[in-house]
Amino acid sequence: MTANECIRGRRSIRQFTDKPVSRDVLAGIVETASYAPSWKHTQIVRYIAVEGALKDKIASECTSAYAKNGEIIKNAPMLIAVTFIKNRSGFERDGSFSTPKEGGWQMFDTGIAAEAFCLAAYEQGLGTVILGIFDEAKASALLSLPEDRELAALIPIGYPAEEPAAPKRKPVEDLLSYMES
Ligand SMILES: Cc1cc2nc3c(=O)[nH]c(=O)nc-3n(C[C@H](O)[C@H](O)[C@H](O)COP(=O)(O)O)c2cc1C
Repeated sequence: MTANECIRGRRSIRQFTDKPVSRDVLAGIVETASYAPSWKHTQIVRYIAVEGALKDKIASECTSAYAKNGEIIKNAPMLIAVTFIKNRSGFERDGSFSTPKEGGWQMFDTGIAAEAFCLAAYEQGLGTVILGIFDEAKASALLSLPEDRELAALIPIGYPAEEPAAPKRKPVEDLLSYMES
């Protein structure tokens, strides 16, 4: 699979088979995703693999804002909580912000890593979907996240039970402009 095929072929998957995700396969995906770039190579992203009763508890108790996400999490054999260590990416050693984006680089780094994770999973035949709508405070409490960590996104993962078509993309003319003086 070329990088082009991987980037274009990955789809958000919301229906999964019962086949479990092995720890070996997951370790390989996380190792590949660790090659994502990060602010001053701070490598702040940490993944928590959630299965069983806790996964289903997150599905039923943290998705009232968008119940469909609860169904997706329940349907998946595994849920990845994508977290990051706070106050490193985008920060100076004395705790001040490095740029006017302030703490924004933390989510930037985590987003890059999440996409790398999803692409690496796709290469292994696994489906993923990044979820942004959930009760962050409740999910963080259920995951017993320590003070220095923040929950960025949830990613249900498993073997796909659907083959959705790619949603239409904007044309390059809308996405790209040139400037010269
Ligand atoms: C930051 C982010 C948050 C998202 N949140 C959700 C979500 O809460 N629920 C959901 O079903 N899909 C969610 N998605 C998936 C998008 O809907 C999906 O990526 C988009 O429709 C394009 O489809 P594709 O991923 O198959 O190319 C999210 C994607 C991103 C990047």
